[in-house]
Amino acid sequence: MVCLGNICRSPLAEGILRTKLPENFTVDSAGTSNYHIGNAPDRRSVAIAKLNGLDISNLRGRQFKVSDFDTFDLIYVMDDSNFKNVVKLARNDEDIAKVSMILNEVYPNENCNVPDPYYGGDNGFETVYNMLDEACTIIATKLTE
Ligand code: 4NP
Repeated sequence: MVCLGNICRSPLAEGILRTKLPENFTVDSAGTSNYHIGNAPDRRSVAIAKLNGLDISNLRGRQFKVSDFDTFDLIYVMDDSNFKNVVKLARNDEDIAKVSMILNEVYPNENCNVPDPYYGGDNGFETVYNMLDEACTIIATKLTE
């Protein structure tokens, strides 16, 4: 799960997807930027997660790295800017094929963005949570059926 800062959207996506998959799946998140390396998720992401019974407070920001293409089979990005930045780091077509926009799981081929809630109000985080929950339900069903 990849966003820009790894403190708002992708930690939520990581926490949500992890609860929907068996423990033998490795779920992680990262940011394309180095802005928040080592930081806890935004308090508004922690709060909306908690409201939904999820504790993401122990997650810490890290930056996406080329070796993530080797570690992970699937790389979900939150928006088109993340998509461009991750694809820029790809070494070959196999790397690129792992990358997709997460909302294409819900709205195939539409390339919709999960809006960046960082500069908005608290209700942006509720919207983001609901979008990610819907997408992660579909992802988990596909991976386990
Ligand atoms: P995220 O949100 O990409 O969902 O973690 C952001 C967090 C921080 C910044 C931008 C977006 N920032 O510019 O610091």
